[in-house]
Amino acid sequence: VGHIDDVQELRKAKPTTIPERFVRDMTDRPTMASATALSSSSVIPIVNFSKLSKGNKDEIQNEILQLATACEEWGFFQVINHGIDLSLLEGIENVAKEFFMLPLEEKQKYPMAPGTVQGYGQAFVFSEDQKLDWCNMFALGIEPKFMRNLQLWPIKPSKFSETVEVYSREIRKLSQSLLKYIAMSLGLKGDILNDMFGMAVQAIRMNYYPPCSRPDLVLGLSPHSDGSALTILQERKGSSVGLQILKDNKWVSVQPIPNALVINIGDTIEVLTNGKYKSVEHRAVTHKEKDRLSMVTFYAPSYDIEIGPLPEMVDENNPCKYRRYNHGEYSKHYVTNKLQGKKTLDFAK
Ligand code: SIN
Ligand code: FE2
Repeated sequence: VGHIDDVQELRKAKPTTIPERFVRDMTDRPTMASATALSSSSVIPIVNFSKLSKGNKDEIQNEILQLATACEEWGFFQVINHGIDLSLLEGIENVAKEFFMLPLEEKQKYPMAPGTVQGYGQAFVFSEDQKLDWCNMFALGIEPKFMRNLQLWPIKPSKFSETVEVYSREIRKLSQSLLKYIAMSLGLKGDILNDMFGMAVQAIRMNYYPPCSRPDLVLGLSPHSDGSALTILQERKGSSVGLQILKDNKWVSVQPIPNALVINIGDTIEVLTNGKYKSVEHRAVTHKEKDRLSMVTFYAPSYDIEIGPLPEMVDENNPCKYRRYNHGEYSKHYVTNKLQGKKTLDFAK
């Protein structure tokens, strides 16, 4: 990443026009006509985690039903009462913001190597003519421990590493609980997914979207589905509305409830459920005056695991839609291709 492609530096330089590499082709622009801004938070399904974990029998049953509907019809939901300390949510927001506000030279001490998604830089960029996202990224592998490239863990801000570590531990527990309830919502044994995943892979990515003088011309993040099993997203308080999901062929804005976490189904769960639960295409848009910061955890099976539709999800009415493949190979395929809708899932067909 040169000076020129770093969107925070670009923003500071206040060019009179947006550089060509960020200007989307007409058909890819976030025209407001196709985006229904839904401010009512009830629109994205809500799952009350405390009812799942501490409710009585009826409450648990009811909440599991909500979860099933959310996964089937939306592929996205938000979790309230997830039990993670607000101070920890604030902590991660603060260290992430502080990191992005460091001088470019400091951040570039942790460069993202091409074809990887670890460090500071632009992931998923493979050619000179590819359009660039209006976003700065910083990403780290978290679990299993061999995923950690400690040279990429920043020294500044001083609380960064410790906060990421503690936060990731809590998010891991939540992910495993959610996988249990997701299995139950399919009528399966609660342990089936967690057992299958083995030493599950976990990574964190922080996305910083500076304001953009022409939000109508650029995208914060290109449309894509996630290669994970589950994705857990936290948005920094006061962020602009930016996440959009493709629902019934329309881009719908997501406005998270304060302190809730936004969860989405990734490609792996779509394959395991033979398409019953959807890995929904999403993107991010930018704002003229406000910035946005998201902290995203990807939770996925161990790389050595074979993935394919679960036998319980296949019958004569639901013929097998995906082949079996090695998750490590899928993961490699995902990070070595540009973000392009649900195209990476073609690998599983
Ligand atoms: C993502 O899809 O990884 C993040 C999108 C967002 O910033 O909301
Ligand atoms: Fe995503």
